[in-house]
Amino acid sequence: MNDWNPDLYLQFSSERTRPSMDLIGRIHDTDPQSIIDIGCGPGNSTHALMNRWPKAKITGLDSSRAMITKAAQGDPSQEWVVADALTYAPPVRYDLVFSNAVIQWIPDHEALISRFHEILSDTGTLAVQLPLFWDMPLGKMIDHTAEDKRWKSKTEGVSDLFTIHDYSYYYDRLTPLFQSVDMWETHYMHILESHGAIVEMMRSTGLKPYLDQLDSDSEKREFEEEVLTHLKKDYPIQANGNVLLPFKRLFFIGYKVCQ
Ligand SMILES: C[S@@+](CC[C@H](N)C(=O)[O-])C[C@H]1O[C@@H](n2cnc3c(N)ncnc32)[C@H](O)[C@@H]1O
Repeated sequence: MNDWNPDLYLQFSSERTRPSMDLIGRIHDTDPQSIIDIGCGPGNSTHALMNRWPKAKITGLDSSRAMITKAAQGDPSQEWVVADALTYAPPVRYDLVFSNAVIQWIPDHEALISRFHEILSDTGTLAVQLPLFWDMPLGKMIDHTAEDKRWKSKTEGVSDLFTIHDYSYYYDRLTPLFQSVDMWETHYMHILESHGAIVEMMRSTGLKPYLDQLDSDSEKREFEEEVLTHLKKDYPIQANGNVLLPFKRLFFIGYKVCQ
């Protein structure tokens, strides 16, 4: 995939940051001394962590240099690391490993959860949120568009870049490692001003790996137009002209020590 575009990503900052705030709100640990925000992006989720735990030492980690550069511009005094979540060998262990809207981009979730567990302190907490992309008409229609013969030769295999399991999979991987597990799903209702805004919101995330495979701007525009046509069928315009985008997300928290 091409590198991320932090400014495009932050255009929908409040919709993107709210799940991290909801996840933070459910964590029982009131006093973690050290926190790592895995896949911190441009630092929006890291700031939500700083607001709740201003005294903790917080590290933001991301594999995208563009994202880390943006995050560091926002808060140069913080520790920001460019590294891959799966292979990063931190110098310390953390009381909280936090990851919001990231693990769907990483293939082996069994290895990942076990790696997260290893970098936690003995009483540490793991808190994760991931979008259930394939459970939404949006994800299905993007992939359906990619399957069309007009695009298939270029977009074949892109859907494999997303790794998303259901709650049952994560529960079975968490319970051997954590004394206590909390899980839930939330259907957010993003209120957007048009169908075009859904495309704009997805351009820097769910649509991105498909668009990255297309050669020219005109091809990318055509692909987006096709997605837009499908969106108009599935997501009605409300009486006031807005469009609601129901967006499903899975949350889980694992506590090494019973809470
Ligand atoms: C959708 S953004 C999430 C940003 C932020 N955490 C938030 O809550 O909005 C996903 C981020 O995960 C990062 N990412 C993807 N794969 C990664 C990996 N293997 N290791 C570290 N970061 C990764 C991307 O670079 C991107 O910045």
